[in-house]
Order: sequence, then structure tokens, then C-alpha cells
Amino acid sequence: MAIAIRPLGEHVGAEATGVDVRAIGPAETERLLDALTRHGVLVLRDQTMTPDDLVAFGRRFGPVEYGVREDYQLPENKDVYVISNIVENGRPLGNPNDGFAWHTDLSFLEHPTAYTFLYAIECPPEGAQTEFASAFRTYDALDAQERARLDAMRVLHSYDMLHKTRKWAAPLSEDQKAKFPDVVHPMVRTHPVTGRKSVYLGPNTSLPIGMGEAEGAALIAELMDRTTDPRHVHAHDWRPGDLVVWDNRGMVHRATEYDKARYRRLMHRVTVRGERPF
Ligand SMILES: [Fe+2]
Repeated sequence: MAIAIRPLGEHVGAEATGVDVRAIGPAETERLLDALTRHGVLVLRDQTMTPDDLVAFGRRFGPVEYGVREDYQLPENKDVYVISNIVENGRPLGNPNDGFAWHTDLSFLEHPTAYTFLYAIECPPEGAQTEFASAFRTYDALDAQERARLDAMRVLHSYDMLHKTRKWAAPLSEDQKAKFPDVVHPMVRTHPVTGRKSVYLGPNTSLPIGMGEAEGAALIAELMDRTTDPRHVHAHDWRPGDLVVWDNRGMVHRATEYDKARYRRLMHRVTVRGERPF
């Protein structure tokens, strides 16, 4: 397999060509992992994958762990989470609502997602992009005083707080709350492979320890604004057959809106569990 890697931007993203992810071995996996680590986001186009192929590919990068929303598991393979606006026989095939604000995936877990794999089956012809930005760049640009302040900061990540922003959803049950207790992660995260530091920004509901809600939210929002400066954002325009992988330890992302009444979107997602942030 003659794999070629082409960077897509200065800070974020690369495309790998010459890859059929169903047929790769350990050497090719290493090559892709290296590109992913360097560029944060890896795009592989024209893939043909069953849900089992997607899960098998994810397992090459670490333990596949289903996230939170059991209502959006793919019935035939429960390691796959479905993102979709399609409703069949009265049943939504997937989650149509989440991911439109900048975030990293599942930061409210003790061991949050390291890698996310998103595979496109049906895509709207306009909108519905995924945008990516580098939080390494944000950390690199801090002055010494800000760096010292953020280096010492710890942040509460709460699934309950995030869930309360879903105005359409019933509150979490006591069982669900017990399953996903609040966690505290460092504000500055070290990448386990490269040692590079980034600001670790979950969703906008996370809260720095020792700060009031308004002050904490303002700080998170400001850091997210700096990170997602439009001059440094990479937007992926989806085509069916695209597989995009990202490293949540340094990248933030969001989905852009699309006309849900007019277009169908069907995406399969697999997440690989990472280390406890340090
Ligand atoms: Fe996400």
C-alpha cells in the first residue's frame, strides 16, 4: 500500500491517500497514527466500510468505548454511535442535535476520548461541515504570566451540566448521574506522545475550579475564541465515503448547521478511550 500524506493547513489536518482501511496492517497503522499525531486531524476519502470495519479500524488505535447516549447506538453494532436527522418508522436513527458548539469529545469522562472516527454515509450537499482548530496553537501563543496561571488551573467537567443545556431532553436520572460523575481535569493538557501542551477545552459548560460561574464561563469562552480564530480553522466538506479521524488531545471541533428539513445526514462514529488527562 503506497500511502501518501499531504498537509491540509498550517496547524491542522492532513489527508492520507492510497489507503484502504479494511486492508491495512501494523506498519500502515503506525504511519497513519504518526500523521494523526503530527496533524491532529486525518482525512481518508473514498472508503467503503461496514460498521464492523469501522470498529475494527478504531481498535487498531486503542480500546473502543461507546460514549453516553445509548438511545443512538447502532442496533447491529453497539460500539457505533449514529449521528443523523433521519427518522424511520417513527424512530430517529441517530442524534440530530449535538456537536454544534466547539468542544472536545466526552471530556466529562475520567478517561476521555483520545481518537474519534467519523464515517460519512449520507451527506447534505451544503452545510454540515466539521470544523477543526488547534488548542496547541493557543497554548503556544500564551505569554509567561497567562501560561503560569493556566498551568496551575484545574477544571470541572460535568455531564450533568452539559446535559442541562439540552432543552429538548428529559433531565438525567439518578442512575445516569451516578454513571457519569463530575470529573476534574487540568486546564493545560500534555500530549502523551509528543509532550506538547494545549489548553484542554471541553464543552462551554466546563468550569474552572475556584472561579464563579460567570467568570469561569468567560475564561473558557475567551480561550475557545482564541483557539477557533477563523484564520486558523480547517473545515471539512463531507462526501459519502469520507472517514475523518481526530485526536481530541489538542484539537477542538464542531459541526456546522444544515437544512434538516431538506437534506439527510447519516454518519457513524466510533470513539477510542484515552489516558487520564495530565
Ligand atoms: Fe464531537
